[in-house]
Amino acid sequence: MDSYDLVIRGGRIVTATDDYTADIGIRGGRIAAIAEGLPRAEDEIDATGRLVLPGGVETHCHIAQESSSGIMTADDYYTGSVSAAFGGNSSFVPFAAQQRGMGIKETLDLYDSRAGAKSVIDYSYHLIVSDPTEAVVAELPVAFERGVTSFKVFMTYDLMKIGDGQFLDILSLARAHGAITMVHAENNDMIKWMSARLLEGGHTAPRYHAISHPALAEAEAINRAISLARLVDAALFIVHVSTPEGAEIVRRARHEGAKVFAETCPQYLFLTRDDLDRPGMEGAKFMCSPPVRDTATQEVLWRHVQSGTFVAVSSDHAPYRYDESGKLMAGESASFKQIANGMPGLALRLPLLFSEGVRRGRISLHDFVALTATNAARTFGLMPRKGTIAVGSDADIAIWDPEETRTVTAADQHDAMDYTPFEGQELTGWPVTVLTRGRRIVENGELRASPGDGEFLRRKPVDLTGLPGAGLGPSGPAETDPARNFGARILP
Ligand code: URP
Ligand code: ZN
Ligand code: ZN
Repeated sequence: MDSYDLVIRGGRIVTATDDYTADIGIRGGRIAAIAEGLPRAEDEIDATGRLVLPGGVETHCHIAQESSSGIMTADDYYTGSVSAAFGGNSSFVPFAAQQRGMGIKETLDLYDSRAGAKSVIDYSYHLIVSDPTEAVVAELPVAFERGVTSFKVFMTYDLMKIGDGQFLDILSLARAHGAITMVHAENNDMIKWMSARLLEGGHTAPRYHAISHPALAEAEAINRAISLARLVDAALFIVHVSTPEGAEIVRRARHEGAKVFAETCPQYLFLTRDDLDRPGMEGAKFMCSPPVRDTATQEVLWRHVQSGTFVAVSSDHAPYRYDESGKLMAGESASFKQIANGMPGLALRLPLLFSEGVRRGRISLHDFVALTATNAARTFGLMPRKGTIAVGSDADIAIWDPEETRTVTAADQHDAMDYTPFEGQELTGWPVTVLTRGRRIVENGELRASPGDGEFLRRKPVDLTGLPGAGLGPSGPAETDPARNFGARILP
């Protein structure tokens, strides 16, 4: 006799590929059955008239992490995971950031101590490598042993950036272990040079942040990062693409068979540099790197969302409060170089994309699921546990009311922030009940989870099967063929 711990009854189940009405039977935290007319369970959720979607998988957010200039994020793993859950996410993958001088085990242990007793949703980390000395590179396999199968590197920020040779070391090691390397791609020297000129001219206000990060700086770095990855035939994930130039380089490289993936973020689709020009220091709230651009850019980025250049839309939640602990740490008259980069967005990534993407007809519901859950799970080694609704998968489910309209307020974000850059926006379509492994974590606007309910996710190697270039043989000049490229094979 089939019995279930919980049945979600009568909802419209939508995945990246399917759309049908059925009941979901959950047993032991996993989906045990999907069918019409499942037997009654002790615990039931009536999902009639609701959308039943895979819980979001957020793979770009900064939680309990020191910024590139050493400022701690406002959110820890409790507030960050609660905010993510209210935003329809069932799991997330923030960063474990190696600071210069730290070892790999030491870094991962530190983040285990920050996350373990606090997260209400399942979590993993991408390992930021900022100091790839010989000893650190030798220690990197510790990450794979612990199920951390993605790295992140920076091409900018003086305290984080690595050189091209170090980047190649990391890419080729990642390749050998089936891992993927993420990159923040901006040309550091262009930004520093531009910033120095602006400051010399007395141009210190937040609006000059956007001018100091030209589109060319992103395009040059994306092109370089992809060239490095192609040289050693390694998988690369470009985070927060913000320009048409950058997106076009990604599109072309994917078409040419490079193992390149990319994301953009809501801020690049919904905000512009006019927001940086708000009175006084208000513009600081909208400062992130790369910066938000203009409406023409937004239209082009939407087209890349629609046509598959971007596999994910991630929040890049980087929460620094609008007070002396964060954005205003250097005071009210700080220059744009002294203001922490980043903005919050964990709880709004999905509602923004649903309201402005799905409801406006820019993307389908299937695209929505793929961009917010399925593709990230697949790219970062979490499939089939996360990112879909299927028998055997974790019961990570977000039940949505597609008709509910709310006006965004900072107070409703459930994070540790004192502002949201999307204050006052009216959005239609909200998650009402969110489950992680079959447990309700949010139900009808109430938190139902406790700190530490989330589990660490050991991730699998990245599966490149069927992705651009896979199985087609060398995709570029012979020098990028690993079978004859000595450089791609020196590391085991
Ligand atoms: O401005 C941003 N995005 N801050 C967070 C750190 C990073 O660059 O990803
Ligand atoms: Zn970044
Ligand atoms: Zn980031």
